[in-house]
Amino acid sequence: MIVPSAYYRPLALGAPAPFREPPVKVERMIHFVPPHVEKIRARAADLAAQVDVVLGNLEDAVPADAKEAARAGFIQMAQATDFGAAGLWIRMNALDSPWALDDVIEIVGAVGDKLDVIMLPKVEGAWDVHYLDRLLAQLEARHKLQKPIMIHAILETAQGVMNVEEIARASPRMHGMSLGPADLAASRRMKTTRVGGGHPSYGVLADKEGYGARAFSQSDLWHYTIAKMVDACAANGIKPFYGPFGDFADAEACEAQFRNAFLLGCVGAWTLHPSQVAIARKVFSPDVEEVRFAKRIVDAMPDGTGAVMLDGKMQDDATWKQAKVIVDLARQIAE
Ligand code: GLV
Ligand code: MG
Repeated sequence: MIVPSAYYRPLALGAPAPFREPPVKVERMIHFVPPHVEKIRARAADLAAQVDVVLGNLEDAVPADAKEAARAGFIQMAQATDFGAAGLWIRMNALDSPWALDDVIEIVGAVGDKLDVIMLPKVEGAWDVHYLDRLLAQLEARHKLQKPIMIHAILETAQGVMNVEEIARASPRMHGMSLGPADLAASRRMKTTRVGGGHPSYGVLADKEGYGARAFSQSDLWHYTIAKMVDACAANGIKPFYGPFGDFADAEACEAQFRNAFLLGCVGAWTLHPSQVAIARKVFSPDVEEVRFAKRIVDAMPDGTGAVMLDGKMQDDATWKQAKVIVDLARQIAE
């Protein structure tokens, strides 16, 4: 007998899906691995011990003639490996590609019970999420899966950015969203060949008048989109992430880009190279001094109301909430 999955809902009747809070899980780095490479698969358990999420990448960067091998390699890796506390994700191929359907059907059929999240690239609107949501509901029912598979959208087309709010609330399966600066740059016809980060020409000169010398100040190319994505995610109870940083040799610039995203509200970033894992762990874990100060604020106002002065700085209900974000994150990481 086929039992409907927990997330099955007759769309035509508009019945709401039973909403389940995704588990509060620390996901500071989503570490990308190419599953068609055998020596990477062989190291999967070691890797899982060092990262929060292991993601088998089936999409861009996997050559067209290796797509089937990557899919089969992921299944083999998932079956053979104990990932411990690390999450197990895939980045499937885009819905308009010839590989997308088999990615979902074969992987959910073979290892759906181990798969936590499907990262869906090039999401343009809620309709892309609805399609995957329905397909997953059918497969969960067919394979009697007990745990719903979540969906993570990549925000990497101009149309996706226009529709970011409807994407964020498209399904109770929505886990979160990542900025994809490389595809987004192409989609917007930006004049860059970089993957994330700054650009030497993007900035403004300080005014000739006023204080100080005339200086060029580089700006974050991604500020607008990250801020827009963070608001859409926060308003819908899902998680925002910064995506890839392509210059593996520039650890400082990677850290700066990750830090901007963290400060704006992102909870993690992609790591495409092992050297970026430590950077993500450091940036997306709150600073010890900051946690100490935040804890003092929380302790100074046990019920979260009122106003107190700490080191000459005014604290009130709003800063108590800010402090709580930092203290809660530190606690989750410590657990
Ligand atoms: C990621 O997929 C990107 O396009 O930046
Ligand atoms: Mg992309």
